[in-house]
Amino acid sequence: MTDEQTIADLRDLFPVVDHWTYLYNGSIHPIARPVAAAMNNVVDECARGGEDAFHLGYERFVLLKERLAGLLHTTSDNIVITESTTAGLNLAAQILAPTPEQNVVLTDLAFMSSTYQWLASKSAIPDIRFVEQRAGRVAFEDIEATIDTETACVSICAVTVGSGFRYDLARLTNLTQAAAAPLVVDAAQALGVIDVDVGATPVDFLAGTTSKWLMGPTGVGYLYVADQHLGATPPTVGWMSAANVDDWDVRNCELHDNASRFQGGIPNLVGVAGALAGVDLLNEIGRTFIERRIRDLTQYLLDELSRLGLEIWTPLPAADRAGIVFFRIPNAAEVHLELKAERIYCGTFLGGIRCDPTFYNTQEELDRFLAVIERSARRAPGT
Ligand SMILES: Cc1ncc(COP(=O)(O)O)c(C=O)c1O
Repeated sequence: MTDEQTIADLRDLFPVVDHWTYLYNGSIHPIARPVAAAMNNVVDECARGGEDAFHLGYERFVLLKERLAGLLHTTSDNIVITESTTAGLNLAAQILAPTPEQNVVLTDLAFMSSTYQWLASKSAIPDIRFVEQRAGRVAFEDIEATIDTETACVSICAVTVGSGFRYDLARLTNLTQAAAAPLVVDAAQALGVIDVDVGATPVDFLAGTTSKWLMGPTGVGYLYVADQHLGATPPTVGWMSAANVDDWDVRNCELHDNASRFQGGIPNLVGVAGALAGVDLLNEIGRTFIERRIRDLTQYLLDELSRLGLEIWTPLPAADRAGIVFFRIPNAAEVHLELKAERIYCGTFLGGIRCDPTFYNTQEELDRFLAVIERSARRAPGT
């Protein structure tokens, strides 16, 4: 089958294409028909069976952990299902529980969830160090120079939301391991677009959501917990944390000896079914195909934006980026409104436009987007 036919077939799976030229897949991915069907099915099961539906739901929960573990090259013993990336990052911070004498190393190329938890929550500690970006990248030397023996945690975003910069996780984990500094990774913009292998690149914690490149719904996320943290006391505990739950012994809690100890109560089983269907769809389409399409489309976009002379924050080498393209343009908010008026969906912040195409998008769609950008750039003085 030709790529064109494959893409036409894939587009049939996404109702969004009848409504938008949708180019914000790294924000909230549109729900595909099989994902919607899987979730509707659970609602029907719950309507018909009540608690009886729980058992089917629980099987999907177990399967989802297996699938996520497969994508991350680990086992489900190391996976916690959370409600979001944010919840996973907070859980990681609470498990690490730095003392006030320690410090935390963050970067200004992170999403707010990576920094606010340290700035505003109970785990707030006085010495928070920000490594500053240089031209849309975070330099390894700058991270290295900021870490010291009191560093309780280095927290980064594997693919950053602002510029789209992708860390070389192998180099980063070499660095944090040499410094004995625990590493927390936000993989929300990475898993599903690029290979993330926690075996080859040993991180301490890695969190994400199913609602972006994994094509699931909002309200379901995951946290990978490395072996050395599986004995930690969970900051919150529920019946699913205990291995002896079937004893109904309220005086004795024997925690699971794996990441299940960090699970609480019944998760969002409708969302879990959707998340499982999303990951299954991703595996069916194939990571190689998806990665190639995203690489080709983002490359085309970057070439054309460069031709227009716009200020591109995304690093140009393919190895230094993934699915996000970010560029600055005068009057970005107005340009964004103009795009929306033409039924083109993308993002705007920091005086720029973010565009995250994926496998079902076409070059024609990017051309529609670029036509609006070119028109706006020509209008603006000084470009
Ligand atoms: C890198 C990154 N981390 C975290 C989030 C927030 O995800 P969640 O709502 O699942 O916490 C986003 C959302 O855009 C993101 O891009």
